[in-house]
Amino acid sequence: MANEQSTHWAAETYDRTMGFVSKYGEDVLEWLKPQAGERILDFGCGTGDLAAVIAESGAAVAGVDISPEMIERARNKYPRLEFHCADGTNWLPDDRYDAVFSNAALHWMTDAEAAVRTIADSLVPGGRLAAEFGGAGNVQSVIEALWETLRRRGRLDAWVMPWYFPRVGEYAALLERHGFEVRFAMLIDRPTRLDGADGMKNWLEMFGWALVPGAKETEKEEWFAETAERLRSKHYENGHWLLDYRRLRVLAVKRAE
Ligand code: BEZ
Repeated sequence: MANEQSTHWAAETYDRTMGFVSKYGEDVLEWLKPQAGERILDFGCGTGDLAAVIAESGAAVAGVDISPEMIERARNKYPRLEFHCADGTNWLPDDRYDAVFSNAALHWMTDAEAAVRTIADSLVPGGRLAAEFGGAGNVQSVIEALWETLRRRGRLDAWVMPWYFPRVGEYAALLERHGFEVRFAMLIDRPTRLDGADGMKNWLEMFGWALVPGAKETEKEEWFAETAERLRSKHYENGHWLLDYRRLRVLAVKRAE
């Protein structure tokens, strides 16, 4: 289950500064191959941009996300689509879907077993999961740099690992335990560009708070500035930052009972 802070997002800032998250999600849409008439659930839909792209195929799309801010923005942007505000690790939808799609969301559900159980329960037999999220080693440089900032300040008490970044074998085994047949799974290095001198600071403000959820605003400001400095020599060049994203992409089919 997510903690209270991780459910609240600055949805408008997310859309404006982290648009690449949805942009990259378009790759996994090619694995989903939505068809007209299908029922598709976007699991961890955020502000709904990819749900809207899926709907263009003629599929009936519903989105679910734990963040009330994200869901409110999704409903405002796409009033014709159906959106639910719920915790994906603890939810049973009324409908069953032909496919579940998920982009950049499953790594937030640290109870991965519960998330996969919900996905399995949401699908008809023969239904498919097409998902992409953070894989083993994702943003490892940032994790290590912020950890080092806290260690030097004697503040490792503030540290939390809020993300689930599995290896291919680990995640495939989890899916198999829940009745899926894994058709494809791959770990993808995806160096991700953050524009401008403030790119790393903006990224840390958007995502890095989750590593230090109990910190005061003034503490985060100092720790993030020091962390960005620590990363600068290897990750900043020609006016942009390059972050070591790694994505796990899977396509799996729920076995008929
Ligand atoms: C994301 O949700 O896109 C994300 C979260 C943690 C690390 C990297 C990316």
